[in-house]
Parts: sequence; C-alpha cells; structure tokens
Amino acid sequence: MDIDRERLAAAASAAAAASYSPYSRFRVGAALLCADGIIVTGSNVENRSYGLTICAERAAAASAVSAGRRRFLAVAVFTPDSVRAVAPCGACRQVLSEFAPPEAPVFMEGSGDRLESTLGQLYPLDSLQELKDRT
Ligand code: THU
Repeated sequence: MDIDRERLAAAASAAAAASYSPYSRFRVGAALLCADGIIVTGSNVENRSYGLTICAERAAAASAVSAGRRRFLAVAVFTPDSVRAVAPCGACRQVLSEFAPPEAPVFMEGSGDRLESTLGQLYPLDSLQELKDRT
C-alpha cells in the first residue's frame, strides 16, 4: 500500500486540535494508517490525576483496535507546541509494536522540525517476541 506521508501528517495535525491537555498545554495528535487504508487518529487526553493521562498514540491505537483494525502500516505524530519533532514515549512504542511491524515508518513533526524513523529503530529489542508469536 502507498503511504501518503502528507495525508497522514495532516490527520495527526487535525487530531492535535482535539487534544485535552489543560495541564501540560502540550497538544499531541497521532494518526495511524491501517491495513485497509483507513486513517485512525487520537489525541492526548490528560486528567487532573496526572498519571491517568493517555498519550495520543495509545488513544489512536485503542480507537483503531476497537473498530476492528489491528494492523498499522505507518504512524504520524504531530506536536504543534514543540518546535522539535517528538518521538512516541516508551509505553507507546511498546503498544504500537503490538499492531505494527518493525518496518512501519514513524513520521514525527513539530512546529519547526520533521523527523522520520521506523518502529523497529525506535523499539529495537522486543523482549516479549515469544508472546507476540502467539498472536
Ligand atoms: N504525550 C503524548 O501524547 N505522546 C507522546 O509521545 C509524548 C507525550 C502527551 C502526554 C501529556 O499529555 C503531554 O504529551 C506531555 O507529556
């Protein structure tokens, strides 16, 4: 499948506008290109009990899987409140790796910077591969 980076980045940017982040004031939007070509998005959802915050990437992953989409081909993350591009946090890398292969591109964009990597580069050593092989 063709991966349209600009379309995925635009979806992540639109998702960032829905961010609920009154505590950090750091909006994040994520977009997943699913195997059927559909793009599913998520934004970060904070809570006054800070530890309950859900990252944009995991919100998007939960939304996609809840709609029956379990294979992600590419990921985009947009952070308008950061000049630098931001990479998914460790927890999100683990969750994304459940549904996306190591070669899946990860496109990251801040207000003044763009980065591209792959999930395998960001999350190289899967200590639980044995369990993954059961899926
Ligand atoms: N955040 C994300 O949504 N994704 C990331 O990859 C990094 C951090 C959110 C969590 C919190 O709402 C805010 O950004 C600041 O950490």
